[in-house]
Amino acid sequence: MIKGIIFDLDGVLLSTDEFHYQAWKKLADRLGIYFDKTINNKLRGVSRMASLEIILGDKSKNFTQEQKDAFAEEKNNTYRELLSQMTPADVSDDVRATLEKIRLSGIKTAIGSSSKNTKYILSQTNITDYFDAISDGNNITKSKPDPEVFLKAAEYIGLAPSECIVVEDAHAGIDAAKAGGFTAAAIGDAKTHAQADYKINELKDLLQIIEQ
Ligand code: BG6
Ligand code: MG
Repeated sequence: MIKGIIFDLDGVLLSTDEFHYQAWKKLADRLGIYFDKTINNKLRGVSRMASLEIILGDKSKNFTQEQKDAFAEEKNNTYRELLSQMTPADVSDDVRATLEKIRLSGIKTAIGSSSKNTKYILSQTNITDYFDAISDGNNITKSKPDPEVFLKAAEYIGLAPSECIVVEDAHAGIDAAKAGGFTAAAIGDAKTHAQADYKINELKDLLQIIEQ
């Protein structure tokens, strides 16, 4: 029986995945490195530095760690500028109504996101109170596909992985959920992942799954 839901943030609750894309694109264009939405899909769920390595590819060896740190910071500054313009109006009706219903059902909720900007995003969009716990890029040592972020989230809400469903838009996120022993619901890009237990088109489709 499902007693808890662990939500990825970027690309599941909010369209911040598009802001990640725009911010990386700006950096890649400045560096003269090819980058498109197909490459961007490989960055879903992956940490900031691991994302940079994917974008640099075999050009990675041309840069020092110091330069890479500066590139990651440059991308994050662009990203945070985009985040600073977010408001509660950026939360879709589907997401808000679903979170409201889940809150009333008594099911525990947590965020399981690789992002170090999680709390800022939740605060900008005023959805922090929908969650019992937040597990994010600040409390983990290994990024998805490692299950650490979800295992911590389950621990924070006092549930076993087998009692929780993870909602993810990233292939790396579905890998992480399955490696951790969770039920996995895929949305968006993750719907092509063969190991997803459920495929949903809208967040509200979750309501039928948890009622089962
Ligand atoms: C994940 C995104 O949620 O967070 C990744 O899907 C991103 O694309 C990662 O790289 C880290 O985010 P941040 O905000 O800490 O750079
Ligand atoms: Mg995501």
